[in-house]
Amino acid sequence: MKTDTTSLNLPVENPEAEDFLPILGTDFVELYVGNAKQAAYYYQTAWGFKPIAYAGLETGKKNTVSYVLQQDKIRLVLTSPLEPGGDINAHINKHGDGVKYIALWVDDATKSYQETTKRGAESYVEPYTIEDRNGKAVISGIHTYGETVHLFIERKDYHGPFLPGYKDWDKPYTTKPTGIKYIDHMVGNVGWNEMNKWCEFYANVMGFAQLVSFDDKDISTEYTALMSKVMSNGNGRIKFPINEPAHGKKKSQIEEYIDFYNGAGVQHIAVATDNIIETVTDLRDRGVEFLYVPETYYETVLDRVGEIDEDLEPLKELGILIDRDDEGYLLQIFTKPVLDRPTMFFEIIQRKGAKSFGKGNFKALFEAIEREQDLRGTL
Ligand SMILES: [Fe+2]
Repeated sequence: MKTDTTSLNLPVENPEAEDFLPILGTDFVELYVGNAKQAAYYYQTAWGFKPIAYAGLETGKKNTVSYVLQQDKIRLVLTSPLEPGGDINAHINKHGDGVKYIALWVDDATKSYQETTKRGAESYVEPYTIEDRNGKAVISGIHTYGETVHLFIERKDYHGPFLPGYKDWDKPYTTKPTGIKYIDHMVGNVGWNEMNKWCEFYANVMGFAQLVSFDDKDISTEYTALMSKVMSNGNGRIKFPINEPAHGKKKSQIEEYIDFYNGAGVQHIAVATDNIIETVTDLRDRGVEFLYVPETYYETVLDRVGEIDEDLEPLKELGILIDRDDEGYLLQIFTKPVLDRPTMFFEIIQRKGAKSFGKGNFKALFEAIEREQDLRGTL
């Protein structure tokens, strides 16, 4: 695989984590969607992803179609069924469009499978090898929260566009990138009293360690609340915050998600940029919708975070949030859900030294989400 992770602005290593499951990075994220062709057009046109590979009727697939898109180190796979019945239709029927696979790039997919299943992971698929004229890859998989699956992808002997069975996707239509570079973190929403169970899964089964924990006192507004813990692997390239709802006067956004997704699943994918003002301006011009932040946020934000390199005016104009920790600051913004159900959304994040997750913005952020919940009648 071409990905070079050495140049990334990656977080510090997490010395608490164990190294029985070395992970090189996120390999791809695969969504099951109702109409992969149109979803691919959305991610190309609105987000600036490039078409990379394709598998479908033309490549000998009879039942499914998949489009692979890439922008810098972020690879998305969009898959739809071509006939009624089966697991993919059942997944879409139950969850709407959503993330099925969080695929992790490893050196040894067999050992990854053995080490995790012997520690209690539920098998999704035993290691198997697939080959075409470009070489071979080994894939295995284990279940995580809800119906989400972690695949382990071993691709050191593969030199094709994506994986065996896919062909180059020659498409005359391409769009300019929007500057998003890699997945900073991916957040899972789980049900009541399930956060600790899944954090223990990441600790015991995958060797991750907890980076940080937020309780409902940290993450609450007058009306709603949630709890969150962030789990990270040893080299810090994989960070999975896990959220669960908490009691408040009104319905937690996590409960709303669980209701519409019909269970646990991926809530948001945070993608990193080196220039959030340019990236968000571009995304907004292309029709991506972001949460609204009231102007009053900007009246006091610099008192809280101190001096920053950027002018405040464009941040205010775009609704970008700012937070600081001991090591620096970060800029972040959240899209509205990118699907019809109020389930998955994206975060755009630019880290300027900070390794944290924007705790100082939680209140403003959740009040913004409450306004959307109110419009949906789900608060
Ligand atoms: Fe996030």
